[in-house]
Formats: sequence, structure tokens, C-alpha cells
Amino acid sequence: MNPIEPPISHDLLERQSAWVEHYRLGLRVSEQGVVVSVGDGIAWISGLPSAAMDEVLVLDDGSQAMVFDLNQGLLGAILLRDTDRLTSGTIVRRAGQALSIPVGEGLLGRVVDPLGLPLDGLPPLAHNGHQRLEGDSPAIIARDFVQRPLYTGIKIVDALVPIGKGQRQLIIGDEGLGRSALGIDAVINQRGHNVFCVYALIGQKRSTVVNTIQLLREHGALEYTCVVVAEASALPGLKHLAPYAGCAIAEYWMERGHDTLVVYDDLSTHARTYRELSLLLRRPPGREAYPGDIFSIHAGLLERSTCLNAAHGGGSMTALPIVETQQGDIASYIPTNLISITDGQIYLDADLFAAGFRPAIDIARSVSRIGGRAQHPAIKAEAGRMKLDYLQFLELEVFTRFGTKLDAAMEKPLRRGRLLREILKQDRLAPLPVECQMGWLVAFNDGLLDTLEPGKVGTVLERLYLRVSESGLALEDNREEWSQSVLEWLDSTKLNRS
Ligand SMILES: Nc1ncnc2c1ncn2[C@@H]1O[C@H](COP(=O)(O)OP(=O)(O)O)[C@@H](O)[C@H]1O
Ligand SMILES: [Mg+2]
Repeated sequence: MNPIEPPISHDLLERQSAWVEHYRLGLRVSEQGVVVSVGDGIAWISGLPSAAMDEVLVLDDGSQAMVFDLNQGLLGAILLRDTDRLTSGTIVRRAGQALSIPVGEGLLGRVVDPLGLPLDGLPPLAHNGHQRLEGDSPAIIARDFVQRPLYTGIKIVDALVPIGKGQRQLIIGDEGLGRSALGIDAVINQRGHNVFCVYALIGQKRSTVVNTIQLLREHGALEYTCVVVAEASALPGLKHLAPYAGCAIAEYWMERGHDTLVVYDDLSTHARTYRELSLLLRRPPGREAYPGDIFSIHAGLLERSTCLNAAHGGGSMTALPIVETQQGDIASYIPTNLISITDGQIYLDADLFAAGFRPAIDIARSVSRIGGRAQHPAIKAEAGRMKLDYLQFLELEVFTRFGTKLDAAMEKPLRRGRLLREILKQDRLAPLPVECQMGWLVAFNDGLLDTLEPGKVGTVLERLYLRVSESGLALEDNREEWSQSVLEWLDSTKLNRS
């Protein structure tokens, strides 16, 4: 509720007098329910026979809830806001509407909770309307193929697991391997590319929340991003709604022709929250005690990400859901569900992380099923050649572990592979423009870096990137031009001589 009363306008007075004129005395029938019991973020309510699923309920003590479970006589509601005065016996009324969130460009640069209340201490949100949290996904007829690239600025991703606008790409791995770091980097890389971002933090520690917001702000990413937060200590109902809120905010922009990117960090916590709510509401548990509809819950959320066709404004919503595995087990329930719902996954590996290969993306187990179509043909051709070299290297490397005596002919691919591994390492918060990406790919594929000592890779690449940015070369330029330019520069610096 807005605590600041708007000034009474002339228009308002007129409307009020019209209302008084047409006022008729009579009976108004309204349902009134009562809280039977309350606890753990759930309220059982009786006496609201015509309440509908997802309908907002207003409680007399000032709390708010949402219908989540319809039983005969008794309905289960998840609390969205509670007060100390909420007890059994509290009167409940229907709000007559489904839950919605304020949306619009006023949300850029803001931190909000899943109901749209600002958490950043700034003035109330300036919004353009409301969007339903649990909306329907766009019809098939309104959708287009994913065919425009969305660059994350991460070398491995943009070259080998490319993401297109409107794609849903899962980030999967154990805790602490840099999943959130990938999501944040992807958001930071949208700077200047006219993509509106939403970062949904679901059940994260407060320190993580503060850190994420701080990072986005420091890198100038907050101005085109809205952060939706339901902390670990929030009501389970709010944690459940956080991804829907993030989705609704982006959906509004997508429907108006914008490109958007949503990071759901993370859906494992979301699944656990949904399990908690379902068990409290006494729904039958299924595999790993998750309720049977957890698949459709996540599918429904991710189906709302798409690329709309020109007739529908041509907007898009790219989704980067994050999921946690336990000891790299991608075969457990929630990860397998999400793998089958999404258009590909980026798999982070604990051994690679421990070996200092960061971002710890396991190329062999990562895939983008539709992103190839969106990749720029120039990058696609170079990346294809590079990938072959890398996969060959990975095979050969297995042999070296057994101490087998290697053929002299194997030396070169091994050397190139090790070099490549060094090149693919990338610090976080250092997204790479796609032209620079093209620069190193050309240099590597032409064998121009082959004589480089591994220790020098970092410095040479830094300078190469600088050179490419200054040269103004574009992806559309001729391959010859690229390789000539890179070769001349490397020759002039003599950096590739060891
Ligand atoms: N590319 C990288 N280079 C160096 N360190 C990284 C990189 N990516 C992530 N890290 C580090 O890994 C740690 C875990 O990252 P985080 O994104 O919080 O993991 P997760 O979200 O998977 O739990 C952080 O300390 C982060 O700084
Ligand atoms: Mg994280």
C-alpha cells in the first residue's frame, strides 16, 4: 500500500460525486474466510468456497497470502507477507485477482522483492503497469527460431556452446565452481548491447545478494538490470515466486520488442522450496520427495522464454537457469528434468576447477542444441576447426597419463592442445568482445601462436585483443584480412618467438 496519499485532484472529486449520485443501498454478498491454522509460511483457511487457484487473499491483520491448494472445505495458502498478529481466527477476504508485479522501464537499476516492493531504499517504483506472475507462455504461432547470437563474453561459451537470443541454456555444476560467476559475466557483457537483464536471486545468503548487486553496480550493469531477491530467510512463498517475478518483468519488455536476459540463480533452491511447500500442504511426495508436478513447474517457467517473431514485436527472452549438482551427479532428479527442458547446458567440472582451469567448463559435456544456428558464420567456422584440435588433444592426453612412449607426430597436437587450454582460461568479470574472440581464433588456427611459451600466453593475448579493438576489424571482414592483420602484428612484436 502506498503510504503517501496522492493530492486530491479535481478529477477525483468529480468521480467521487458521481459515485455518491449512483450509490444504491442494498445487500452485498461477499465471502469471508477464517484462518484455521498457520505456520511455516502456510495458512489453512476455511470458508472461501469460490476462491480460485493463485488468487491473492487479504488477511485482517495486514498479511497477504496466495491460494496454493484447493481442498474441499479447506484451502491451503502460501503467505506472501505476515505480521506478528497473524493467528488462527484471523478473517480472510479474497482480493479477486491473481498475483501480479509492477513492470516497466522504471525497474531497471532497481532491487525488488518478488511482489515488486523496492529493497534498495530508493523511492517507490515508477512502473508502466502490472504483469501476472504466472502468465501463459507465448503461442507457437508467435514464436520465431532462435537465430541471433547473445554473447556472454566467455570464450568457451561464445565459441563452443554458443547461445542465441531466446534460448534457454542451463548452467549446471557443484556449488562453488563459478556458476553464478558465469551468469553475472553474461549480464555484464550485455553493456551497450541493448539487452535488458533480470537477475533473480532465489534463497541466497544475504552476503551473496549484496555481493552480486555490488558487482553489477561496479561494472555498470545495474543500470540495465533489475535484481529480484528472495533471500534464504524470506518466506518460502516468496522464494517460490521469485523466478516467476523475474520472468514477468522480462516478459513485459519482451512483449514490447526488447531483447532480455534472465538469470535464475538457482532453480535447485527453487525446487527445494516447492518441495517444502508441497509437503507442508500434504501433497503426496514422489521421487526424492519432490511433488510430481515439479517438472511442469519448471517447464512452465522456462517455456515463457522465447524469441517472438516480427509480427509480435521481435522481442526475446534468453534464460540462464542455474542448477546445483551433488558431486557432479547430473543424473539426479532436478538436474535431469532441467537438462531435458532446456536447449543445452554448460557443465562445470570440479576437477577442472581444482586444476586451475577457469571457467571450469567441461567442453565434452557441454552442449548448445540450437545456438549454432545463431552463431556468426565466421566464428562458427573458426571455432569448428579449433574444437577438432581440442578434442583430438583430449584423446591424446589420456595416453600421456599412462607414460606411453609417444610418437614424434603426436608432439605437435599435444603442444597445440596445451596452448589452447592456456588460451581458454579466462578470469571472471573480464568478458571478451566477439571481435577479440575472432582475433585469437584466427591466430590459433593459423598456427601463429604455436611457438609461444605457455607462460607468455596471457600477455600476448592481452595485447592481441587491444590490437584487434584498435584495428576496427569486424566479423564481416574477409578471413584473409583478419589473418594478414594478425600475422603482421605478431611479426612486428616478435612476441610469438620463444
Ligand atoms: N573464471 C574464474 N576465474 C577465477 N575464479 C573464478 C572464476 N569463476 C569463478 N571463480 C571463483 O569461484 C568461486 C565460486 O564462484 P561462484 O560463482 O560463487 O560459484 P557457484 O555460484 O557455482 O556456487 C568464487 O570465489 C569465484 O571468484
Ligand atoms: Mg552461486
